[in-house]
Amino acid sequence: MKGKKQSFKERIVVKASGDDAIEQAQEIAARLGLSWEPAPCSSACMSEATEQDLLVLRVSSNGLELIKADDPKLSGAVRVDFTTGRTAFRRKQQKKELLVRAVEGKGKTQLKIIDATGGLGRDSFLLAAAGHQVRIFERQPVIAALLADGLERAAEHPETAAICQQILLTMGDAVPALKAMQEIRAGEGEGGKESVDVVYLDPMFPERRKSALVKKELQLLQLLAEIEQSPEQLLTAALLVAEQRVVVKRPVKASFLTERSPSYSLSGKTVRFDVYLGGLLSRNRVSSG
Ligand SMILES: C[S@@+](CC[C@H](N)C(=O)[O-])C[C@H]1O[C@@H](n2cnc3c(N)ncnc32)[C@H](O)[C@@H]1O
Repeated sequence: MKGKKQSFKERIVVKASGDDAIEQAQEIAARLGLSWEPAPCSSACMSEATEQDLLVLRVSSNGLELIKADDPKLSGAVRVDFTTGRTAFRRKQQKKELLVRAVEGKGKTQLKIIDATGGLGRDSFLLAAAGHQVRIFERQPVIAALLADGLERAAEHPETAAICQQILLTMGDAVPALKAMQEIRAGEGEGGKESVDVVYLDPMFPERRKSALVKKELQLLQLLAEIEQSPEQLLTAALLVAEQRVVVKRPVKASFLTERSPSYSLSGKTVRFDVYLGGLLSRNRVSSG
């Protein structure tokens, strides 16, 4: 039924995979303000929920999974796993990633990075694997919960535990946080305790990226996360904080975010990284509004 857009809380139900996960499911539902169903949800639970657009957040001993119950094309679940599959492969080759090259520039030192649009944390994890300190902001509570769950499991795994030490996840909107950092920094001066080298932005865009896997995840993310309504605020706050650069991920053929021209871009087959060099020079050209 079309009409008023439902809030994410009306569209997600928390279910436990079995009796052993019921307590945890209850705790997660209470924390996120979601409803929960006491009946255990086996793998068949995907066909149990038939209401259009209903999402199931399934809790099991394997972690959290988000499932779109009524859409067979999105079969399977979205779960954050940094230890196996494509993410693990990319992590091992991280220096070849265009993202890492765009963020590092020519520098060789460890960077303090803010990922202001954390999502499922794939990009942040690559940056942390490249040796940088990454603070992630994610404002959508369910996406933040999926990411926190993936990070917790990765922190227990011998191959990824050290990378997790480099990552700090905050659930919340990055714009006020960046503005607060800018005020502190203004008091401290450049290079102070609160200094940030790079701010990375990957706002949700309506265009599709290729790859079936990304498509499935993106479609689910798009059901929860909102298309960025005010990218100017995000980009302006980022430019005022980043001492070295702001890097924005865009679909390869998309216009620049807010039409502001970057210093330069690095383009791959499907995505492009627009790099805005930071420092006082560019800050003088940004109004903090
Ligand atoms: C395209 S996804 C990012 C994907 C991410 N780069 C990854 O590797 O998984 C964009 C995410 O940014 C989040 N977001 C958008 N604006 C935000 C803001 N102002 N503060 C915090 N999170 C934000 C959305 O909720 C969404 O989850």
